[in-house]
Amino acid sequence: MQKHVKALGLSMALAVPQMATSADLEVTHWWTSGGEAAAVKEFAKAFNATGNNWVDGAIAGSGGTARPIIISRILGGDPMAATQLNHGRQAEELIEAGLMTDLTELAEKEGWKDIVNPSSLLDSCTFEGRIYCVPVNIHSGQWIWLSHGAFETAGLDVPADWNEFVAAAPKLEEAGILPLAMGQQGWQQNLAFGAITIGVAGIDAWRKVSVERDASAAAGPEYKAVFEAVAAARELARESNVQDWNQATNLVITNKAGGQIMGDWAQGEFQVAGQVAGKDYTCLPGLGINEILDTGGDAFYFPVVKDEETKKAQLELASLLISPEVQVAFNLKKGSLPVRGDIDLSSANDCMQKGLKILADGNVLPSGDQNLSPDTQTQIEDLMAEFWSSTMSAADAQEAYVAIIADSE
Ligand code: GAL
Repeated sequence: MQKHVKALGLSMALAVPQMATSADLEVTHWWTSGGEAAAVKEFAKAFNATGNNWVDGAIAGSGGTARPIIISRILGGDPMAATQLNHGRQAEELIEAGLMTDLTELAEKEGWKDIVNPSSLLDSCTFEGRIYCVPVNIHSGQWIWLSHGAFETAGLDVPADWNEFVAAAPKLEEAGILPLAMGQQGWQQNLAFGAITIGVAGIDAWRKVSVERDASAAAGPEYKAVFEAVAAARELARESNVQDWNQATNLVITNKAGGQIMGDWAQGEFQVAGQVAGKDYTCLPGLGINEILDTGGDAFYFPVVKDEETKKAQLELASLLISPEVQVAFNLKKGSLPVRGDIDLSSANDCMQKGLKILADGNVLPSGDQNLSPDTQTQIEDLMAEFWSSTMSAADAQEAYVAIIADSE
């Protein structure tokens, strides 16, 4: 099997385009919020300027909704020409089945190994020594976004960290303001769980569990404190009755909520709302406690197709997505960090500058998607969905979590 896959993979490696193309490329993604749509338009604009045509295949809902649709289309023989997925292991089975285009020749010709920073992003695209995706950004989940208006209304200073935020909650509630905005979806609740873990248990404990998958560490005192902190956070979000992440972000933008734990794609929403970081809202990476970020985010894959023109256009798009100009235009709108360190982002706002400094200092850790299998991730998200929407005890949640980590792969 392995030899066959390698041979198939090599035969799928495409010759690098020698000439401009003009093809319609259907591109799937789940970027449908205001900020996301503004960012993906930068990709489409750049691709259309090459004489090709970006056929937008936006899929509403979260990644958890879109990924099964994307994967089943590829497995079912109805592939799109390009698709967003997250950094990590989401395309593993498709690559093993020989259904994804090998980009190694293009990557070597363009020196992606020397361009992509951190190099772990390209490692996440590499399977058995071959490269199957082009990283396009770095998004991290360990941020809290704080509404200046909400804290002003409550007569409070903007918190400097998670602990000050929790202490401020009663006064926010007295002022009729929801302390913590949270969409009722497991991936959002799991993102908050991960961010609180980094803040409460620290990096070493997080690494033991999320990277080394040490179930005894998950059962330990550090994680007991994490589950108790998450149970407390659950109370702060008890009245948050929105579904999608950007609806929760909008509660912060409109000063109806004090804060939201969310990835830095929330930046795009503040930007579209005309709000200024440091003036209208504050962002605290690592919840203001452990300034470290994960290297989550997005990469584009190119399912194997038959048409030669389409194949050439796929490579032209892959090359464009990592180019300096497109990296600047896209990431400034997306609120994400670029995947290359050789571009000028001096126009980035306060929050992006905080992220760029953390990245430059090397204070980054792999994302859950880069460590755990999609199946394990889904199990944890399902547990978090149950925990955050019920009165499940912190102890029971921790016990269930330990079992998932013990069985994880
Ligand atoms: C993530 C993705 C981000 C962001 C977010 C919310 O999986 O990496 O780009 O859009 O979903 O949709």
